[in-house]
Amino acid sequence: MIILGIESTAHTFGIGIIKSVGKKNSVLANVKDLYTTEKEGIIPAKVADHHVEVCDVVFEKALKEAKIKKENIDVIAFSQSPGLGHTLRIGAMFARSLAVSLNKPLVGVNHCIAHLEIGRLLTKAKDPILLYASGANTQVIAYEAGKYRIFGETLDIGVGNFLDTFARALGIGFPGGPKIEQLAKSGKKYKKYIELPYVVKGMDVSFGGILTNIQTKWNSQMFSKEDLCYSGQETVFSMLVEVTERALAHTGKKEVLLGGGVACNKRLQEMVKIMCKERGAKSFVPENQFLVDNGAMIAWLGKLQFDAGIVLEIEKAIIEPYLRTDEIMVKWR
Ligand code: ATP
Ligand code: FE2
Repeated sequence: MIILGIESTAHTFGIGIIKSVGKKNSVLANVKDLYTTEKEGIIPAKVADHHVEVCDVVFEKALKEAKIKKENIDVIAFSQSPGLGHTLRIGAMFARSLAVSLNKPLVGVNHCIAHLEIGRLLTKAKDPILLYASGANTQVIAYEAGKYRIFGETLDIGVGNFLDTFARALGIGFPGGPKIEQLAKSGKKYKKYIELPYVVKGMDVSFGGILTNIQTKWNSQMFSKEDLCYSGQETVFSMLVEVTERALAHTGKKEVLLGGGVACNKRLQEMVKIMCKERGAKSFVPENQFLVDNGAMIAWLGKLQFDAGIVLEIEKAIIEPYLRTDEIMVKWR
């Protein structure tokens, strides 16, 4: 069976193709085109225009990479929730027209759950806690009693958004996460840790106050870029590790899986690994191309749902920008 997955929840328009024969599953293609900007933030209508412009090219590239023809596709999956309405609509439209023209079944999937399921496919993690750290999302998710539950999350912006906004204040462009990671590593060998607010409320985290604080410190010209990047990372990643550890303790699970673009950060990976080791758990990190938003993860969750009989009628294939992870009944586990 060949499954095509379309991702369009935010900046990325991605198409992934997975081939599944018996128990063997392989990613044949995972192509993406990312909307980037130097200065401004993300304007949904502009990103939607970008997706319209690139969708055909990304599709053709994916078919070429997978060495298949579009007629070989058996199932079409698309990210149905959650995300920006403007951009989700482009992916849904593309998916619906393909499903109609090829006369193939259509499956709508939840983007956050897709991050978790692709990790379970590609690593040895079986029943992990997912630390999902991306631009817009920061959630700690795990399976319990028929649903993927959110054990902790950000109360305001996502951690990637925090990094990107701070990077903009530093004038180092977008996306800021990788640049902050480099700056945090450069400079003096022993960095000075500059005290910042540490905001964990119960199982949740919040980054807005830290952002204001770190920006004020930068504007005061009393601290170096490197020290601030280092201190910002150490602070927000410690917060993420703390809530992840508490989710492990609460659920009694023994595995942590990383997902989301911020999880590409080597320091975050290291901190999670240390925490897991200390409590006899294991951490798992898929390759970067599967950490960031991608079509392959949509294809894979599409396959799981298709096998469980969860398909959409074309007329009912609407987008659900606000649907939460824990509102979905998980029939495939
Ligand atoms: P979502 O809809 O899942 O919230 P997104 O559009 O934010 O998606 P991702 O590709 O998952 O997409 O993540 C992008 C974020 O990851 C950006 O905020 C970027 O700065 C951050 N990022 C990427 N690489 C790194 C890194 N090495 N260190 C820290 N952050 C990083
Ligand atoms: Fe994502």
